[in-house]
Amino acid sequence: MEGYTIKTLTQFIIERQAEFPYATGEFTRLLYHMGIAAKVVNKKVNKAGLVDILGLAGDVNVQGEEQKKLDVFANWRFIQSLKSSGECCGVASEENQEIITFDDDLSLDGNYIVSMDPLDGSSNIDVNVSIGTIFSIYRRISPRGTKAVLEDFLQPGSKQVCAGYIIYGSSTMLVYTTGHGVYGFTLDPSIGEFCLSHYDIKTPEDGPFYSINEGNYAKMPRGIQQYIKYCQVEDKSTGRPYSARYIGSLVSDFHRNLLKGGVFLYPETAAAPNGKLRLIYECNPIAFLAESAGGKASTGSERILDIKPTSLHQRVPFIVGSKNMVERVEEKLTEYPSNGH
Ligand code: AHG
Ligand code: MN
Ligand code: MN
Repeated sequence: MEGYTIKTLTQFIIERQAEFPYATGEFTRLLYHMGIAAKVVNKKVNKAGLVDILGLAGDVNVQGEEQKKLDVFANWRFIQSLKSSGECCGVASEENQEIITFDDDLSLDGNYIVSMDPLDGSSNIDVNVSIGTIFSIYRRISPRGTKAVLEDFLQPGSKQVCAGYIIYGSSTMLVYTTGHGVYGFTLDPSIGEFCLSHYDIKTPEDGPFYSINEGNYAKMPRGIQQYIKYCQVEDKSTGRPYSARYIGSLVSDFHRNLLKGGVFLYPETAAAPNGKLRLIYECNPIAFLAESAGGKASTGSERILDIKPTSLHQRVPFIVGSKNMVERVEEKLTEYPSNGH
């Protein structure tokens, strides 16, 4: 098509390199390698129904959850790619109890660490529902040339230099932010490249959707129960009742709400007093994306990005999405203090 130009992820990040003070191309190389791993994992995800990849790998991950084979593959693939980038000195993953450190000379000198959920929503794999990968990048605080240490990974989310996700859906997309806008790239399978498709995504301040696992209703804090009731009440000025949308894949639920407007909630419940989602590789990256798009992310009483993590796999209550909707949830939680469920 005459006059039609595509911009690939790699072209785009090279152009934006100047956003980084003293940019040397290190970060560009790191993101480029994330993109390569994403393409390989995407191929495997698309083939899931065809080859004997469904089912359990027979292992249980550090959260006590059964691992699907694709979890194992995606985890391995991203780790290998980050190792070969030479810019990353260590990785934290949902699938590994401890941090992974790279000790070849190039990686030891790497300036970045990556935390990730290699496959999010994996219980949806064998029913052909969208799944994703979530990642979060920080500058290390330990000296270059040495091994990465746990403290590198326990930085508050406000220190992220980049966060993003890949969604393996009806099309495959990579969405990322460095805090200067949120950009989405759609994989064009005919050329095998992520191409810029969503420029400077801004999330609506209000939206039509609320996303929560209402099966947990009886075990939720009063404020959240009240918010759900509020969503269901007719009010023409706010467009209520809102529609309920819940896929059970954080990446997919968030992606829809990011583009259309909405709020996603995974509160604490009587059974899970800190909620279910993990601060470091689920909530922080999604929160950084939400804020960079003009949205908000909160525990209900505290900004997610302000929390200083104390352990790698810690969980937090998570409310994220359109600004006004997140604020309304916070108001309900203040108005109806928890009575211990
Ligand atoms: P993972 O597949 O990485 O373990 O994450 C699943 C998460 C998240 O994607 C989703 O939002 C949530 O679990 C759904 O939990 P419920 O089934 O309890 O609603
Ligand atoms: Mn997950
Ligand atoms: Mn996972």
